[in-house]
This record gives sequence, C-alpha cells and structure tokens, in this order.
Amino acid sequence: MPAPGRVHRFLGIAAGSSSLPWFSSVPYRAVRIQQRGRSLSSSPQTTPEFHKRLLSTAAGKLCQQQTGMASYRVPIAPQSVDAPLTQHATFLVLAAKSPTDPSTQQIIRSALAGMSSRAKNVAMRDLDARFSCTVGIGSGSNLWDHLFSSCSLALSKTNKPEELRPFRPIHGNTHAAPATRGDLLFHIRAERRDLCFEFERQLLDSLGKGDDRVVEVVDETVGFRYFDARDLLGFVDGTANPVGAALPESVLVMESDSNAVSAAVGGSYVVVQKYVHDMPRWNALSTEQQEAVIGRTKLTNEELDDVTAAAQPKAHKTLTTIVDEQTGEEHDILRDNMPFGSPGTGQFGTYFIGYSRRLWVVEKMLERMFVGVPAGMHDRILDYSTALTGTTFFAPSASFLASLDSSN
Ligand code: HEM
Repeated sequence: MPAPGRVHRFLGIAAGSSSLPWFSSVPYRAVRIQQRGRSLSSSPQTTPEFHKRLLSTAAGKLCQQQTGMASYRVPIAPQSVDAPLTQHATFLVLAAKSPTDPSTQQIIRSALAGMSSRAKNVAMRDLDARFSCTVGIGSGSNLWDHLFSSCSLALSKTNKPEELRPFRPIHGNTHAAPATRGDLLFHIRAERRDLCFEFERQLLDSLGKGDDRVVEVVDETVGFRYFDARDLLGFVDGTANPVGAALPESVLVMESDSNAVSAAVGGSYVVVQKYVHDMPRWNALSTEQQEAVIGRTKLTNEELDDVTAAAQPKAHKTLTTIVDEQTGEEHDILRDNMPFGSPGTGQFGTYFIGYSRRLWVVEKMLERMFVGVPAGMHDRILDYSTALTGTTFFAPSASFLASLDSSN
C-alpha cells in the first residue's frame, strides 16, 4: 500500500508483505532499512552501486517516476492493512492482564516489534498463501499510554494518535452497539487456514505460556470466505471499498493531517464488531425486501438508487455513505468483513472490520446505522443482525512497530 509521504508509491509496494514474491525483487537490505525506519543516507548501503540496484527494481523505478528523485529519504511503511481478500482470517482480540506492570509492557512491546519477522517466518512456508497480519493497539485500558510512556522512545513518537479513544457505545431507539474490552487486535489473513493457525500459536507463545501469559484472549473469531466474497446474508460484501490511489487516501493517517502525531502517520484506526444473524427471520424476507435493506441486488450485486423520501427507511449502503458537509467529499473506509459460524451450533455471523484514516467517519457510520436518519429510522440490517462486540484500535505503521525493538 502506498505510504503517506512524498515517495509513498515506492514504499507502499516494497513494504506490502502480502506480496512476498514482490519482496524478492527488492534488495533485502532495502526492505530491512525501511522497516527499521532509518534513513538510507545514514546507512552503509547508500553506495552509488546500491542506489543503482534499488533503482533497477520496479519499486525504485516507480519511486523515481513519482518523485523524479535519484536519492530519497526512507518513508514510513504501513502495515499490510490492504492485504487482498483471502480464504481465511482469524480475528484475535487480547487484553493485557496487568497493563501497568512494566514486565508485561516489555513483553508486549517486544512481541509487537517482532511482528514482521514472525510474519515472515510463517509467510515463507508458502508464498502463494498471501499471509499477512495487522496488529492494532487499543486504548480501552490505556494500553497505548502504558506501553510507550515507560520506554525510551523519543517522546514525539509516543504521542497517542489524536482520535484514539475507546469504542463509543450507541443506544438507538431499537438497537444498541455495545462497547467491549480489547487491548490488542491481530487481523491474521491467508489463503491457508494452517498458516493463520501457526502464526497465532507462535504469537501467543511469545506473550508467555500457561499462567505466565501476560494477556488473556477476549475473543477469537475464525472467518472464512463464502463463495464470491458473500456474507452469510447472501450479499457480496466489500464492493464499495476504495481502490488505487483512493485506498491510502481513505485509510492512512497522513503527515499533512492536522494534529497528526508522528506515531500515527502511516497508521489506521480500526473498528471491529462481531454480529450474529437471525437467519430464519432474514430468510423469511423476499429477495426484493432483502435487496432494499442492503441497497444492492443479491445475484448481480448492482447498486440500487438511494431512497430519498424521509418517511422511507434508507438502505444500509446509503446510511454508511459519509459525505463531508463542507467539501462534499465522500469519506470511504476499507472493510474486510468475514463470515464466521457453525451450522451445528446455529451460529451465523459477520465479523465487521473497518480501517480508516479518520475514526470519526466510522463512528458516524455507526451512528447513522443505529440511531437512524432521520433519528428512529435505523438500518434494517440490524433487525436481523445483533452486534455482540465493539472495540476500537489503532494499527500503527510497520516502521513504528519495528522501531520498538530498540526501545525495550
Ligand atoms: C452485519 C454486519 C454487516 C453486514 C452483513 C454488511 C454488509 C454489507 C454489504 C452486503 C454491503 C454492500 C456491498 C459493499 O459495498 O460492500 C455493505 C456496504 C457497506 N457497509 Fe456494511 N455490513 C455490515 C456492517 C457494517 C458496519 C458496522 C459498517 C460501518 C461502521 C459498514 C459499512 C459499510 C460501508 C461503508 C459500505 C459501502 C457503502 C457504499 O456503497 O458506499 N457495514 N455492507
């Protein structure tokens, strides 16, 4: 994914760990240097020969095209929040047992710093499996502050992302979005279930074994791809996601954002909610009624016209469209929802995950869904889907995570 900065296209591709075959075309050390967030100019690798090699890669060429620069400062590498849709995903939410305990903090910091090498260990086992993992840090128990206040990172780096705050519960007239616990989120994705499993096992081991583990598992949801990226309600989910240049625009905090602290640049706010569906009630609706709820046709996934009459309920896709009142600009988010459940136990669900450059955009979507527009006219998807959880995180850049290495 392009990173937020002048040379973002170069970095974005090079740092996309989801495209590991791509990695191999970039000199390994260049990637390492980016991940550590150091400047090329202070590296022993900055010989003319090294530059020539770098520029001979597709990434280097792209960088040069974009910037006209033959030498560059190393930009901030985002995590692979834009990893492609995969067959499998695990959503793991953890809570620190003693967030104020310095040794707990140190163990968590070093697990975070080791994210990229642990991901590489697992991803290398099958490069076609497009393995990736994104980690988010929550603010529910002030973990962000605890983790970074006691270590030797430069203060400017440790400032909390401006909008990072606990999930705001919403109580609409009919439906509620509860806030639930969570200090760390791991969004693990791959084409193979075993890779997700193996990564999660190694990750949890790194956080301590048995009773010595410094975290507890709050929720572990295993999601799967259902036909052509459909949710269990039967609709294709994720179509309106931003693509191309609009993707980093919508998802990554930019240096130019007002009040963006350096620890936030290249990162994203992440909101997760676990929904369970009442399938018998949903299936009792006609296809046309279901389509009116979602705002798209079921079979062909075509968008239906927005309902404009105030007295008529608006479709889900309309309520989740956020237009800036001043600029008229539409603010997108990146969703990678996954179905989960088990017919045997009668559980049918959608795990919602939304990445955004601006937390307020996701909060606004939720308000429009649960309170309704006008108030009282809620999103009818909620008449068939109940939110069981709601937690907010911030997924900092990969550069930020790697820099924790030297701060323990
Ligand atoms: C039960 C949970 C949910 C289900 C099953 C669901 C399903 C869908 C489906 C089928 C679409 C239409 C296709 C597409 O563009 O992806 C859609 C659109 C969308 N949903 Fe959801 N969704 C859920 C919850 C949420 C939540 C909680 C949010 C935000 C907080 C959200 C935000 C959006 C957005 C932004 C769009 C695109 C709107 C547009 O067309 O611009 N969804 N959703």
